[in-house]
Amino acid sequence: MAKQKFAKDSVTIMTEMVLPNDTNTLNNLMGGRLMYWMDISAAIAAQKHCNRIVVTASADSISFKQPINLGNVITLRSQVTRSFNSSMEVFIEVTAEDIPAKKKIMTHRAYFTFVAVDQHSKPIEVPELIPETPEEIEQYEGALRRRQLRLVLAKRMKPEDAVELKSIFNLGEK
Ligand SMILES: CC(C)(COP(=O)(O)OP(=O)(O)OC[C@H]1O[C@@H](n2cnc3c(N)ncnc32)[C@H](O)[C@@H]1OP(=O)(O)O)[C@@H](O)C(=O)NCCC(=O)NCCS
Repeated sequence: MAKQKFAKDSVTIMTEMVLPNDTNTLNNLMGGRLMYWMDISAAIAAQKHCNRIVVTASADSISFKQPINLGNVITLRSQVTRSFNSSMEVFIEVTAEDIPAKKKIMTHRAYFTFVAVDQHSKPIEVPELIPETPEEIEQYEGALRRRQLRLVLAKRMKPEDAVELKSIFNLGEK
């Protein structure tokens, strides 16, 4: 297994068209269907990074600000931002396009975490990620803080151990 991989090697672009079976009774894309596509696209990016089977460990908050209409073309761009021991954070950006109207809008951004597992579903080490562009470096640098926040919220890390969050919550200060 490669010890290091570039962030660009995980880029995954997935395109879907919103069809009647994907919509609610208002002819808008159902949130659950979008999350399903996000999960698949992000899982492919994580697999590209580690060349292993991956499982979804968490999905950070996703809000639905505007409806996506029947017939829109959805593009999901996923890329690993940083890897840790067995886990990888993936950033997903979603755009919706009305091709006949020549309108394209960014609709969602989210972070998912995947864990690489072996044949017995046990977490297994993944390659280190090397960021190159300014955007990749910014994502990489923020990933440790986001990891600690989600592990604290999932009760998998004690707040006092989340050193990256000290400046946000004034932890440790009287
Ligand atoms: C994710 C899973 C493999 C973690 O297994 P575990 O035995 O708890 O393993 P560990 O405690 O050693 O954690 C392994 C990694 O998962 C990460 N992790 C665990 N829970 C997490 C969460 N809620 N959010 C983010 N990362 C998480 C840990 O931080 C650790 O990362 P690291 O190795 O990079 O430090 C296990 O909980 C699992 O199989 N969950 C079900 C996955 C699944 O079926 N997904 C589809 C949902 S329908």
